[in-house]
Amino acid sequence: MSGNRAAYLLEPKGRFEVRDAPIEQPGPGEVLVKVHFGALQPADQKVAKYSVLPVEYPSVLGGPVSGIVEALGERVDKIAIGDRIVSGTKLFGSWKAKYGGMQRYAIVDQSSVIEIGDTDFTKALTLASWTPPGALFGPNALNMHYPSIPAKPLPAEEQGKKILIWGGSSAMGSLSISYAKQAGYTVISTSSPHNFDLLKSLGADHIFDHSDSNIVEKIRALFPIHYWFDTISLKPSVTTILKILAPEGEKVTKAYIHLLLPLAAAGNPTLPEGVTAAMHKFQPEAPGNEEWAKYFLSRGGFMEQGIKSGVIKGVSPHLLGGLDKVSDAIEELTKGVSAKKLVIDPWA
Ligand SMILES: NC(=O)c1ccc[n+]([C@@H]2O[C@H](COP(=O)([O-])OP(=O)(O)OC[C@H]3O[C@@H](n4cnc5c(N)ncnc54)[C@H](OP(=O)(O)O)[C@@H]3O)[C@@H](O)[C@H]2O)c1
Repeated sequence: MSGNRAAYLLEPKGRFEVRDAPIEQPGPGEVLVKVHFGALQPADQKVAKYSVLPVEYPSVLGGPVSGIVEALGERVDKIAIGDRIVSGTKLFGSWKAKYGGMQRYAIVDQSSVIEIGDTDFTKALTLASWTPPGALFGPNALNMHYPSIPAKPLPAEEQGKKILIWGGSSAMGSLSISYAKQAGYTVISTSSPHNFDLLKSLGADHIFDHSDSNIVEKIRALFPIHYWFDTISLKPSVTTILKILAPEGEKVTKAYIHLLLPLAAAGNPTLPEGVTAAMHKFQPEAPGNEEWAKYFLSRGGFMEQGIKSGVIKGVSPHLLGGLDKVSDAIEELTKGVSAKKLVIDPWA
């Protein structure tokens, strides 16, 4: 085994440095992955720039990772050494550098590991998140009807129901569209016009420009809307959704809005009576999520089948280069990306 190299964030809001790193041994339930590619996402940017979570320094950010299983900890039975996998990382929650994705060898938890067959490693990174299925189908989230492969008709009580997925060209929004469509729902979504073709290819039924000055009326014309998921959850999106639900001088439409950020990120708007909103906080291992975790994350489960078959679709991977590009990736995320996942090759 050749040595590990990692992009370390040296201190809170500090700079990155690429240097040698130990190859850690996986603990019980953990897996050592030889990382072929790793992604960076908005949460990494928030930690790098604003130190919003208590990671240990020097820290290694990043996730998910895709690569080959190199070693197994005790009690790992979901996968085998040599399997091609993708996995979310557990840095946010475990805080230690060995769990970050921006290195050649990373430790992940077997619960997050998905075997990907011959799926391209960079593409797999765009499909690995369990946040969208957690938000749509989690019992304490939107609790929609599960998708299946092949697709089956929705049960009678769900037939014809619509979901608004705000931010369909985001990494989370794009996946959410493909999951909701596979489950059989009608999807209304928003993006910039240059991403309309992507949203169409994901299966969205009604697509709107989020900057259209008539968007409130256009979306209201599609009422009733049964599920509301704002994958952006910032002031512009939350404010517009509230106008759709409660236009001035008109009766409020009762609804629950599922958010990916705290309401504070949208400036803590006053919610009209009858409208509630909450941030998605989902852990597959939390009590009550056992059935969900078995269905979506287990070996041969929906995520594995969906990734291998191409049913789960998302944004495109965008390869930036080696570990020395992690800092550039954080800057790009700060400016804002459009319909792409930023990918690093730790061996380049
Ligand atoms: N709570 C959780 O468990 C959880 C989990 C994962 C992510 N998150 C959070 O969820 C958010 C989304 O993450 P992500 O990785 O999906 O983001 P992302 O891919 O970086 O989002 C980029 C996209 O946002 C779209 N966008 C920006 N402003 C918009 C608006 N007003 N209306 C509609 N679309 C807009 C852009 O669309 P156009 O280019 O088409 O304009 C762009 O494609 C982040 O804040 C992340 O931290 C939370």
